[in-house]
Amino acid sequence: MITLKKKFSDSYNFVFNKTVMIRVDLNVPISGGKITDSTRIFKIVPTILKLLEQKAKIIIVTHLGRPKGDWNEDLSLSILVKEIELLTEKKVFFFKNNIKSAKRQDINEKFKDHDLVLLENIRFYPEEEKNEEKFVKKLSSFADIFINECFSCSHRAHASISGVPKFLPSFPGKLLENEILNLKNLFLVKNENEGVAVFGGSKISTKIKLIEFYAKKFSKVLVGGAMANTILYAKGFDIGTSLHEKRMTQFCDDLIREFKEKILLPIDVIVTNKKFTTSPEVKLIEKIDKNDMIVDIGPQSRMLFYNEVLKTNTLLWNGPLGLFERKPFDEGTEYVLGAVRSNKNKNFFSVAGGGDTISMIKKANCYENFSFISTGGGAFLEFIQRGNNLTGLNSLNN
Ligand code: 3PG
Repeated sequence: MITLKKKFSDSYNFVFNKTVMIRVDLNVPISGGKITDSTRIFKIVPTILKLLEQKAKIIIVTHLGRPKGDWNEDLSLSILVKEIELLTEKKVFFFKNNIKSAKRQDINEKFKDHDLVLLENIRFYPEEEKNEEKFVKKLSSFADIFINECFSCSHRAHASISGVPKFLPSFPGKLLENEILNLKNLFLVKNENEGVAVFGGSKISTKIKLIEFYAKKFSKVLVGGAMANTILYAKGFDIGTSLHEKRMTQFCDDLIREFKEKILLPIDVIVTNKKFTTSPEVKLIEKIDKNDMIVDIGPQSRMLFYNEVLKTNTLLWNGPLGLFERKPFDEGTEYVLGAVRSNKNKNFFSVAGGGDTISMIKKANCYENFSFISTGGGAFLEFIQRGNNLTGLNSLNN
């Protein structure tokens, strides 16, 4: 299990009057052009304020969504500016220009009238995900110190995660430190053989392989959302037009054969059509037809999942079980989340993580019922699985 060699507080000796690049995860959920949950912004505020207290000039770097190296206005960070200003009570300059042709001075001069400079979505640059050295050097040239405050991307070998620490003195952020402490102390000490893991959401290929790991360690893995669709498809069910990933079929087929006792899938679902023009209907899995789109788990599945969550001592939850952002397809997830609230086991320990997961838990009013909520989604799952091998954390230690 990894131990960070440096602390956030170690950075205090270095950041005074310096330009500090802070990589954060402001990949916040957005719907209808509005931020629907600001937790990820809110959580980085203490780090920012602490650095400002040390008179640091702060360059904020983050991604939003997966633009795959293209400039995509829908994923521009302009949407974040007001919210960051509101939560930090500081002035933000949004540096929209292409940083590849920018000089350090172009950014630095913005600090005359602003407290923080926010760079445009770092994933608009294809070099970010390729961790291209020239780009890493360019990015590093803007600052004196680097802070990784992005636990949730620390499993990604990207330029702004594991590249920059090669060129700048680097430190963990307060939040990142806290994530690791909690996940280590609160989770890994538990006997996981008894646990229940709940998986949902739409990031299928990122997460589906992790199900295998949790199926080995936990007594039950409950699967909903697009991941369940992919497994159901692999089992030969007609899933109509439901979101799934065909290329994972073989993997899912092997998975379900090996862990058929442990992996629980929905036995009934809510369906509508692709345009949402038909009334939602409850259908058994074997009754789905070609125009149906699965949007939530059905009542029998809700009860099945609820009972598993209710009796477990250890729970890990990642992702919604249906199309949570669209009412009433949040009802299945909310129902099962109710079991977290009702679980009265003395030693009940529950962890959840991920951007959508946080907003889902808040919406369902059970944020306080979880023992720990991580801002990381994929990173949180991989950290628990691999513990000592997250590229971004290793880079901080080297
Ligand atoms: C997340 O939402 O889990 C993080 O922002 C990471 O996003 P990614 O899976 O696109 O790297």
